[in-house]
Amino acid sequence: MPVGGIILITGSAGRIGQAVVAELKARQYRLRGFDRVATPGLADFVVGDIADAKVVRESAVGVEMIIHLAATPDDADFMTELLPNNIIGLYNIMEAARLGGARRMILASSGQVNWWQRMAEQWPVRVEDPPTPKYWYAAAKVFAESIGRGYAETHGLSVIAVRLGFCPRSPEHFLEVVNSEWAQDVYLSPGDAGRFFACAVEATDVRFAILFAASKHKHAIHLDLEPTRRVVGFEPQDTWPEGIEETMLAGLSH
Ligand SMILES: NC(=O)c1ccc[n+]([C@@H]2O[C@H](COP(=O)([O-])OP(=O)(O)OC[C@H]3O[C@@H](n4cnc5c(N)ncnc54)[C@H](O)[C@@H]3O)[C@@H](O)[C@H]2O)c1
Repeated sequence: MPVGGIILITGSAGRIGQAVVAELKARQYRLRGFDRVATPGLADFVVGDIADAKVVRESAVGVEMIIHLAATPDDADFMTELLPNNIIGLYNIMEAARLGGARRMILASSGQVNWWQRMAEQWPVRVEDPPTPKYWYAAAKVFAESIGRGYAETHGLSVIAVRLGFCPRSPEHFLEVVNSEWAQDVYLSPGDAGRFFACAVEATDVRFAILFAASKHKHAIHLDLEPTRRVVGFEPQDTWPEGIEETMLAGLSH
């Protein structure tokens, strides 16, 4: 079914959010941003906190799909960061989807869900492998995947949870990838991130799926992308360091 309605993107001002906005805008979708800061590149955006149920619900009334990215994107204090942003925010957006009548929810999960398998060097990681979350941040992502399944079964919401590869947000992240073959193999370029979410929007007949999204591996296969190809038709185009911005490189010299 073609997507004609509004796609709400939470975390739309962030690293992945801006890549998604750029790709979906280029494909002429109707987009609404949601972030605690203004969203560059969009006329329709809400400035609000994902932990504020009222504003989240209002922003989602009548939208067709939701891409949920807003979160603290790594480990941080549980009570003051992860609980409001990653747990309560998740509850709010899932309920907003249900009450507002959305057809699909695309949830940002993380490769950190499979952390201890990675540390044991059991490659490649497959989506059906038991989760081994690194710590609280990754455990919150497992929680998100779980309740995604619950909403798919209970409410008929189409849910795609995606364990995203490493899309560097800072010069320090960039350096981490430069110095690690593993990080290069799980690298996710901004362009591939945008294209993955476009595929997830356009995929038909998905009730519930957990998928990996990454660019092409450089050295060895660490993530099994076959289900991603099969379920949403995503084919990565970039290999590290393709797609990384020159501004990221420039940041290293400061
Ligand atoms: N970049 C990566 O490598 C990576 C890897 C795996 C998963 N992820 C996930 O992808 C999503 C986006 O990550 P990112 O790298 O773009 O991070 P980011 O920090 O660049 O973007 C997150 C955005 O969410 C917004 N946000 C945070 N808390 C909010 C709140 N309470 N209310 C409203 N907005 C809020 C921030 O303002 C920011 O714009 C996150 O869910 C993250 O866990 C990212």
